[in-house]
Amino acid sequence: MRMYDLIMKKRNGEALSEEEIRWMIRSYTDGEIPDYQMSAMTMAIYFQGMNTRETADLTLAMAHSGDMLDLSDIPGIKVDKHSTGGVGDKTSLTLTPMVAACGLKVAKMSGRGLGHTGGTIDKLESFPGFSTGITMEAFKKNVQTIGLSIMGQTLNLAPADKKLYALRDVTATVDNMSLIASSIMSKKLAAGADAIVLDVKTGSGAFMKKEEDAVALAKEMVSLGNHAGRKTLAVISDMDQPLGNAVGNILEVQEAIDTLKGQGPEDFKELCLTLGSLMLVAGRIATDVADGRRRCEEAIVSGLALKKLSELVAAQGGDASYVEDPSKFEKPAIVRDILSEEEGYIQHIECDEIGMCSLVLGGGRATKESTIDLRVGLILHKKRGDMVHKGDALATVYAADEATFEQAKERFLKAYTFGKQQPEAVPFIKQIIEA
Ligand code: URA
Repeated sequence: MRMYDLIMKKRNGEALSEEEIRWMIRSYTDGEIPDYQMSAMTMAIYFQGMNTRETADLTLAMAHSGDMLDLSDIPGIKVDKHSTGGVGDKTSLTLTPMVAACGLKVAKMSGRGLGHTGGTIDKLESFPGFSTGITMEAFKKNVQTIGLSIMGQTLNLAPADKKLYALRDVTATVDNMSLIASSIMSKKLAAGADAIVLDVKTGSGAFMKKEEDAVALAKEMVSLGNHAGRKTLAVISDMDQPLGNAVGNILEVQEAIDTLKGQGPEDFKELCLTLGSLMLVAGRIATDVADGRRRCEEAIVSGLALKKLSELVAAQGGDASYVEDPSKFEKPAIVRDILSEEEGYIQHIECDEIGMCSLVLGGGRATKESTIDLRVGLILHKKRGDMVHKGDALATVYAADEATFEQAKERFLKAYTFGKQQPEAVPFIKQIIEA
């Protein structure tokens, strides 16, 4: 088989066979297909799409490209969670310790930032010493003893996705349904959990801008998971503006800690409680979602959820004193407000542009080799529906230098639209998709 022929076949709109997909993924993982040919293939897939059978074949080929983790020796139902990615999406940092504090076993594999969106692994590395590159034994031991472990793709789990993910990040080929579905579900299948709860985002900050596309993606992933014998369900949630107020790695970690202390922003809290209650039901800890929600709320009020985050950080080599005192995190040289130059109700926020502001500040990757500045980002003070007067602070920017502050400011001001009427509130949780 030749990669050239497969690229041409897909470019011309034909479906790839199971054998071709398996060969392509195996050869790419082994380094026999270079990045430039794979980039051409992902771009061809981006424009021509893949059918349901091809997507399932791609998912299984990537899931089996490395080891498949077997968690069956850990008692109880192990539950994993994944988001399709958004701006200010620090959900795993609050959600996973919260449900682990309720007695659920959480075995999670996370990714780095992708495109304009952030990633859990980068955020966790804000804790000095924290390692997501732990061994399989340490991962399983942490799930067994503290009920929670989060790892990156450093083990040999879905290595094909690891390579493809980094390639798509820098070649503008992220937002394709088959590529997202296979990327997420291959990781989830390889990581060995019995049940999977997906958070599928929709809106201007999501990869799926339209709700109907998000629903189609959710249905595809739910079907892939259930066919593979894992109980899978999905929540469709709003990403038409950043989640919570903080955007940027350390800033998001601080907001996640605030939320574990019961002080977080309402939209973020609501998402954590919704996903948490579904995870507790899937793990048979709660009898129904109302019971699950009550248990999650108790875990926050009692302080057990916050304590669980400290345990996670310490177990993976991080300095847990930062959980107790998040003011210890380093700040960049510039911390300055952006003031509104307009007046009126905020009608719309171009959410992916806010993600791009964080990226130009240095909080995301421009190339595969880029290192990121964990300190930079933004705290929003005004969101959709808020009334703003000229001179009000719209956000506080954390920047390493004047040049990046100015670039971010210019982009930021263009991302907001104002009007005279207060816009109607939109539901934050849009749908729940089950098999
Ligand atoms: N998250 C993933 O893991 N993969 C994608 O392609 C998009 C979001």
